[in-house]
Amino acid sequence: MCGIMGYTGKGNAVPVIIDGLAKLEYRGYDSAGIAMYEDGKIQVCKRKGRLADMVKVLGADCSCQLGIGHTRWATHGVPSDLNAHPHCDCSGRIALVHNGIIENYASLRKELILEGHDFISDTDTEVLVHLIEKFYTVSLEAAVRKALTLVRGSFAMVAICSEEPDTIVTAKKDSPLIIGLGEGENYVASDIPAILGKTKQVYIMDENEFAVLTPQGVTVTDFEGNPVHKEVFAVNWDPVSAEKGGYEHFMLKEIHEQPKAIRDTLAGKFEDGLIDLSSLEMDDTFRQAGKIFMVACGTAYHAGLVGRLAIEKLARVPVETDIASEFRYRDVLWNPQDLMIVVSQSGETADTLAALREAKRQGVKVLAVTNVVGSSVAREADKVIYTHAGPEIAVASTKAYLTQLLVMYAIAMYLARIRGISSLEELRQLGSQLQGTHSQVQQILDWEQDSGQIRQMAEKYREVQSTFFLGRGLDYAVAMEGALKLKEISYVHAESYAAGELKHGPLALIHDGVPVLALITQDQLVEKTMSNIKEVKARGAIVVAICKQSLQEDCQECDDQILLPDVNPVLSPIVSVVPLQLFAYYMAIFRGADVDKPRNLAKSVTVE
Ligand code: AGP
Repeated sequence: MCGIMGYTGKGNAVPVIIDGLAKLEYRGYDSAGIAMYEDGKIQVCKRKGRLADMVKVLGADCSCQLGIGHTRWATHGVPSDLNAHPHCDCSGRIALVHNGIIENYASLRKELILEGHDFISDTDTEVLVHLIEKFYTVSLEAAVRKALTLVRGSFAMVAICSEEPDTIVTAKKDSPLIIGLGEGENYVASDIPAILGKTKQVYIMDENEFAVLTPQGVTVTDFEGNPVHKEVFAVNWDPVSAEKGGYEHFMLKEIHEQPKAIRDTLAGKFEDGLIDLSSLEMDDTFRQAGKIFMVACGTAYHAGLVGRLAIEKLARVPVETDIASEFRYRDVLWNPQDLMIVVSQSGETADTLAALREAKRQGVKVLAVTNVVGSSVAREADKVIYTHAGPEIAVASTKAYLTQLLVMYAIAMYLARIRGISSLEELRQLGSQLQGTHSQVQQILDWEQDSGQIRQMAEKYREVQSTFFLGRGLDYAVAMEGALKLKEISYVHAESYAAGELKHGPLALIHDGVPVLALITQDQLVEKTMSNIKEVKARGAIVVAICKQSLQEDCQECDDQILLPDVNPVLSPIVSVVPLQLFAYYMAIFRGADVDKPRNLAKSVTVE
């Protein structure tokens, strides 16, 4: 997630901006930069790497009263000096920083180049500053308003201009932005930590709000210029809790970021209501692949399991799923026509990288699904689809997993489309349902916020030593992810099992009081799953059903129910995993574990 900091006032903007960006470093970034108004000109200093690297180049004696700064989490264009923000227009009069995704940047870029604009970066952001230049006459505010009417996507953008040496113009759509109110000085930032210690009076910018800051004051309007009344939010967070956006742990913050991560990841992947991955230029491989090898580790592997079921169901392409550390030692029957898909949040997992390299050695094309632009997996794969979950700080993966699922569905739907397996109407309908999942995930989070049901369940089971997670089909794939979440952060033994397999041995482990969490979202498998639930209940298990509302009647025999919004069974993993994430989180809390940094684990396993 990019970090933004801007200042206009009587003080020296440089230390204020650097300090503000430093307080946003926890968000993760790969480059940093600053634009300053000095002696009638905009001066820019930006570097790939750490903020400190940029500050070293900047030098200690810089001073200005107007400036904007940025720490970049790359989404379009690898981390580099040129791709770092701020970006300037051709004349160098306007500088801009941005957090978000400009979906229609490619078409805008083409038009602007035809109109004579020179681009020096590979970013989507640079389009915006040239668009503002195109409309600039005497007012930065007016030029930004016009430019934003042509932009599709998400943005928190901040711009300054050498012709207006005390003015900051900023606008928000879908990406966070706040304004700090000072005495004779004002601040803009992407998050509250950046302004802690400078002011406690803040405007939290809402959707489609626009602001103009000068040292004398802040004017907030909508994009059309209609005044908007803003309540001042008094900040009383300490710096540590501020980094977590007021949440107690990064994991809980990231669970709650999932609706936005869904929107960001799906942004730009639809054309006329259909998934369009043609920009990968992989259609021949997609059409010819006789088999897909889906390879990953841990949670990413569980996303791949969902991907396999979705691809086989929707596109009728055989998929083999493998844990990367096992795949490497198989005597694989390679065929150069085939395709490997590797899934990796960090893009640095050693076992996954090794599997990728083996496929390349065998002449098999590799498509990577990763959350980190410019990661090893992204660089070494033939093609890459990025999840846009933003930096995931907690060791236990949540939002990255959910966005990996979205990409799995996108691949399945695109394969089905170009192989002519599903009708365009069917795919449009499924696409619309996929785009709607962010509101269903939000609904679950809101339900829990109101009821506390999952938290209470965790409190009830906090002392258990062993749990089971059961499911069939897609529910089994999600049961594996739910069990991993619980294991890795609460240290409670958790076994995921195909519901129909329990009687072939593991049933012996069921005794009085063992909690069994049963996922029930596959309408056509409910009866079978319920008969397995009767088996475990007969042996004393306590069964919690995580079931769709429409299946509530079928699950009456369960001891407890966590209800899910009704969703197409194919897409149910996107919603059914959320209660399991929350259950694991609260179990870890009640057991006093270190939620964000569980023992023995690392966020990225770069060793074999
Ligand atoms: C997930 O909660 C774990 N932290 C772990 O299983 C992780 O998914 C696995 O190490 C793979 O990491 P990657 O996605 O970065 O490749």
